[in-house]
Amino acid sequence: MIIEPRTRGFICLTSHPTGCQQNVIDQIEHIKSKRAINGAKKVLVIGASTGFGLASRITSAFGSDAATIGVFFEKPPSAGRPASPGWYNSAFFEEEAHKAGLYAKSINGDAFSKEIKRQTLDLIKADLGQVDLVIYSLASPVRTHPETGVKYKSVLKPIGSSYKNKTVDFHTGVVSDISIEPAVGDDVDNTIAVMGGEDWKMWMDALQEEGLLANGSKTVAYSYIGPALTEPVYRKGTIGRAKDHLEATAFEIGDSLKAIGGEAYVSVNKALVTQASSAIPVIPLYISLLYKVMKEKGIHEGCIEQIQRLFQDRLYSDSTPTDDQGRIRIDDWEMRDDVQAQVAELWEKATTETLPSIGDLEGYKKDFFNLFGFMVPGVDYDKDVNEMVEIAGLQ
Ligand code: NAI
Ligand code: NA
Repeated sequence: MIIEPRTRGFICLTSHPTGCQQNVIDQIEHIKSKRAINGAKKVLVIGASTGFGLASRITSAFGSDAATIGVFFEKPPSAGRPASPGWYNSAFFEEEAHKAGLYAKSINGDAFSKEIKRQTLDLIKADLGQVDLVIYSLASPVRTHPETGVKYKSVLKPIGSSYKNKTVDFHTGVVSDISIEPAVGDDVDNTIAVMGGEDWKMWMDALQEEGLLANGSKTVAYSYIGPALTEPVYRKGTIGRAKDHLEATAFEIGDSLKAIGGEAYVSVNKALVTQASSAIPVIPLYISLLYKVMKEKGIHEGCIEQIQRLFQDRLYSDSTPTDDQGRIRIDDWEMRDDVQAQVAELWEKATTETLPSIGDLEGYKKDFFNLFGFMVPGVDYDKDVNEMVEIAGLQ
């Protein structure tokens, strides 16, 4: 079987196992090329299969020789159909970790549910005793509440008034005007229920109540701020309200963790192409301009570079510097004045005609296809992947 990308809107319906394997190997190589991090030894990553969560798992395992348990929601292969990319990423991560003599097990299912929390707690109890770092990196459009059974859907809308700006269809390169209608009804509360901090707190309470957090444990969840340009649809929109809630939850969790000398943080990360961010209107245009500017300045980073720097220079350095709201900032290079001034200038000029030269649309596209294992350098896409597709590496 030869697998080709099949896209529908901002999702890709197929994925390439060898490409996903190569992505994982490349991320591992990046971590091995840096010095060891004096980090955690037993790590739980919730949302471990793609994006920042996968990078956190790889950084822990190959930067600090940590045992890792990864929780995620991915689709296994079926009847000749490839699995979702996060499935392959996790299978090949486990393979590489085991080769390196590292403990690595994964739990595939709904992290919001009581069942998956129970399974995870039991696995920690049986195999690791305790963990000393919990990374919370879920990005989901829906959440079924474990107590009430209510299914919440998050939305990406401005609050108060409609928002008009430009966006790009990164497949065609066409820049067009869009208008997004403001949140109505329970949109804000629903988005907070899905992407706010309630579930993170539930995880941390359960872990702490059952004595599964070692003394001095840390936990980190990921947030985003971004420029004034995207504020109406991001930081001051429905998703921003959920991030406000997540950030406030860090203080609540931090208070509970004081009993064991632990700490809870939110880290504000850089805008990057992931499955989660490609679904947000306007962001792809912003990212394609941002990439251009940051690459020219030699300060571009992907998920693995971001998380490596987060662990080495912030989380496990002598002190953990935070902003005036207690947040770790690893979006510092994205938010630099010179970077933002240049992006704002390019934003004004961005049209279908100018974008190929003033923006990094190619870089955006490449990163998008890379998420699914396509366009990865060094992969022979003409090679039959029958055996790879049904890899049984994950239990
Ligand atoms: P992603 O889409 O790459 O990863 C999401 C992860 O959550 C995957 O491992 C997926 O399997 C898992 N997941 C989703 N629903 C689940 C469920 N019900 N049960 C178990 N696992 C589930 O997303 P990304 O971008 O890495 O996002 C992670 C966090 O980082 C989010 O909080 C996001 O807001 C934040 N962030 C993202 C930025 C970006 O530009 N991509 C920038 C700054 C922060
Ligand atoms: Na993630």
